[in-house]
Amino acid sequence: MVEPTDLAPLDTARAWLEVARHIAVLTGAGVSAESGVPTFRDAQTGYWAQFDPHEMASERGFRAQPARVWGWYEHRRELLRGVQPNAGHRALADFQQRYPERLTLITQNVDGLHQRAGSQNVLCLHGDLLTNRWLDTPRDCCHMKHAATGSPPYCDRCGNLLRPGVVWFGEPLPLATLDAAQRVVQACDLMLVVGTAGAVYPAAGLAHQARDAGARVVVINTGSSELDDIANTVLRGPSARLLPALLEASDPAQGA
Ligand code: OAD
Repeated sequence: MVEPTDLAPLDTARAWLEVARHIAVLTGAGVSAESGVPTFRDAQTGYWAQFDPHEMASERGFRAQPARVWGWYEHRRELLRGVQPNAGHRALADFQQRYPERLTLITQNVDGLHQRAGSQNVLCLHGDLLTNRWLDTPRDCCHMKHAATGSPPYCDRCGNLLRPGVVWFGEPLPLATLDAAQRVVQACDLMLVVGTAGAVYPAAGLAHQARDAGARVVVINTGSSELDDIANTVLRGPSARLLPALLEASDPAQGA
């Protein structure tokens, strides 16, 4: 008898997918790379090769240089207006549409491309680049639609600044979202970990939780990741090719 683990990694993952009742997917910046959105930690092309994350992705960095940091987020928002979801985003959305009860998508990405591809109920661990919130606790005078134009915009009464609605280093993740993600990974029997370096916690810890709870973990990545060691199998290659190859062929015996 041929065990799934005797097969090539893609066939192995397909065999696991076909019998999985609850699939958790954790995505990172690599999923959007082929849409033209830079990752963070890829050498040369990643944002953190060019910028210091403490300056660009922390409250302290924002307070120190609000115009510079705001400008960088404005640049990233502008970039998003010119890109489209890729075949990897679409394969995840299509699979969820076919089997809505089986797949839950958890993402570290703030680019909204999963949602634009049609994924539903995406658990966004790190916020949404296209939204803003007040830097300091808003007072009665702070009304977002009346924010005075500026870089960043500000409350013209009290001077409170707007900031991007993303989670920065040192900040807690949205509690309800993280709770929901933890429940999903603890109940899944298969977890796909796609396009993430696995270097940022608590997001990366979700893969450990899935594994500890008995799920199979499949890593999909063009290079090595910090989660390879806990993966049951690793698919090496771009997610825009591997996600369709994995998900589109699936005809699960135990579908919803
Ligand atoms: P990283 O930039 O750290 O990692 C991207 C991963 O994607 C790397 O492991 C690459 O090898 C892989 N990769 C690149 N292109 C790929 C492709 N076409 N297909 C598959 N894999 C590919 O991004 P994240 O792990 O998402 O946080 O980073 C986690 C968090 O750190 C981000 O959410 C961001 C960042 O600082 C905040 O902004 C709060």
